Amino acid sequence: MTTTQLLITLSVCGVAVILLTLVGALYVHSRLRRREYELACMYAWHTTALHHYLQPKVPLPEAGGWALSPDLLSFLVRHIEAERPRHAVELGSGLSTVVLGRAMKNVGGCLTSIEADTEYLARTRVLLDAEGLDNVTLIHAPITPRDGFRWYDHDAMKELAPIDLLLVDGPPTLTCPLARYPALPFFWSLLREGAAIVMDDADRRSEQQTVARWRKDHPKLSLTHLPLYRSPALLRKPG
Ligand SMILES: C[S@@+](CC[C@H](N)C(=O)[O-])C[C@H]1O[C@@H](n2cnc3c(N)ncnc32)[C@H](O)[C@@H]1O
Repeated sequence: MTTTQLLITLSVCGVAVILLTLVGALYVHSRLRRREYELACMYAWHTTALHHYLQPKVPLPEAGGWALSPDLLSFLVRHIEAERPRHAVELGSGLSTVVLGRAMKNVGGCLTSIEADTEYLARTRVLLDAEGLDNVTLIHAPITPRDGFRWYDHDAMKELAPIDLLLVDGPPTLTCPLARYPALPFFWSLLREGAAIVMDDADRRSEQQTVARWRKDHPKLSLTHLPLYRSPALLRKPG
């Protein structure tokens, strides 16, 4: 092969590589745009549906981000309307407290919401008062070291009624390794047979490891990965 032929071959290969890279980048970009569009549609649809359901008297905090995503909030409303739990407990208050509180009130049930942070506690209290959700008990349970974890103060959560639905959305994952693990050992004896346990953020490694450890502790716990944003996990205590 002459030098000229070699140069032409190399140039053709170079152009082909550039074209293939461009096509690949365009494909990835279009997939991401499509995913963004689908998420925006999901968000709009569920927030509108929730607003219609709640008929809030004051502006509510945004769904998503630190709050539960709107598709999980809708799922929980449907779950409560279908199963009519008597007592629900949530770890980590905020928008979810208003949504779960309203749904529980509609079915004649009550909600206990556990909050560690005084600022968020005060914000949630304002929302509950404005919405007239007198079926919600908001408990301040500061994060306290215990058994190698940092979790809600046990003494603040005494004498709770049996639980039909447990939503685990706190403490924040950076609190300590497997920050949400203590929820099941603490609440296990209070959970009724067949009780539902919802773990948000189960697309994260820490929450996946926590769920795996719960199932190792209790092999008969059933597990469903909900096809929702952030892949929340739904577990059931055997009945
Ligand atoms: C995941 S959040 C709980 C959110 C709640 N379940 C909701 O749907 O609104 C867990 C804890 O993080 C704290 N928190 C809430 N919003 C926060 C924010 N924007 N920045 C930092 N911490 C926040 C609160 O103490 C809350 O209990």
